[in-house]
Amino acid sequence: MMEKYADFTAIGPGTGAGRFLRSFWQPVFASKRLAAGTAVPLRILGEDFTLYRGESGAAHVIGAVCAHRGLALSVGRIEGDCISCFYHGWTYDGDGQCIAQPAEPKSFAQRIKIPGYPTREYLGLIFVYFGEGEPPPFPHLDVFDGEGFIENRVSTRDWPFFAQLENSVDEVHFNFTHRESKFSTVGLNDEIPEISGKESEYGIERIARRGNQIRKSYILMPNCMYSLVYYNGKQWTEHLSWRVPVDDKTHTSFIADLVHKSGAEAEAYQAEHAQESARVRADEPAMSVVRRILAGELHIDDVPDRPDIVLIQDGVAMMGQGYSRNRSIDNLGATDHLVALLRNLWTREIRAIEAGRPPKQWCIPPDLVPTKGLPE
Ligand code: FES
Ligand SMILES: [Fe+2]
Repeated sequence: MMEKYADFTAIGPGTGAGRFLRSFWQPVFASKRLAAGTAVPLRILGEDFTLYRGESGAAHVIGAVCAHRGLALSVGRIEGDCISCFYHGWTYDGDGQCIAQPAEPKSFAQRIKIPGYPTREYLGLIFVYFGEGEPPPFPHLDVFDGEGFIENRVSTRDWPFFAQLENSVDEVHFNFTHRESKFSTVGLNDEIPEISGKESEYGIERIARRGNQIRKSYILMPNCMYSLVYYNGKQWTEHLSWRVPVDDKTHTSFIADLVHKSGAEAEAYQAEHAQESARVRADEPAMSVVRRILAGELHIDDVPDRPDIVLIQDGVAMMGQGYSRNRSIDNLGATDHLVALLRNLWTREIRAIEAGRPPKQWCIPPDLVPTKGLPE
């Protein structure tokens, strides 16, 4: 008998979920962390790659290792827009084509090609298309062209991306998991919302009704949440968060927030945020706190308030579900309407891909905007 849901856990090359994720542009790195003329090893979607930025400023993603004798290319040297292997100088362009073998008396570089992937940058993030054939249209949201600045946060979490996606469509957990948090200052915890929503041309329209207020946010298929969030108890921002698997057990969250501040106000905000980040870095790492809570050494409500308390609360809720659950034994209720929809859409698309049927062509309207859904 066919399982109720497709496998959302295995995301490596050739898996159903892995092929589905690879059929979209995926963020892989924060733009500002990659200086021109530098390279880093990149692990994402269960595979290893080389990410480098050429001297022209263009970012490139190619295979992890040199085709000569297998040295990691990330330790190589950038030459123009190419990367030259540290061991014997074989040089590759941004498509992975070998263009020079300086020590070989008779070069056979034209026969040597390693993988190379289309790359784009948007909202402070480097995106890559790892799929087959031509990439889909690159998404664009007009609201992010507006006044303000983009703030990025990138963090790797020790729980699977799909648990995080399910959490993204679950506003009911605000009232429990985030009961003690900054959420309460804006009223997101005041009452348990009535959850509804449906499939749309871009993914899932997520609706949470509180009284006569409707909070609308979106899942942009397959793995991006688009909402208005009250960031850090200070500021409403348009918020995009992509959850990209690093491997079957962990994922990286790539966030782009539009902070509606400019000039001196923006500088003050950034300075304050930099201080908070320094405070978080000086503190016990969030993942370590989560592990201690799950081990029974500490109760979550006894963790002193810290800027990343929401992440710790979410971490307890998600890491605490284990790495590979059988979701078909869950007992879903009316408040899980969107969790069920997310699972069903993912299952439908993965099964189409596995059966060789064309998957749905998703399309993000550029004028899509989320709503706060709270009294002013
Ligand atoms: S291993 Fe890369 S050039 Fe020899
Ligand atoms: Fe949460």
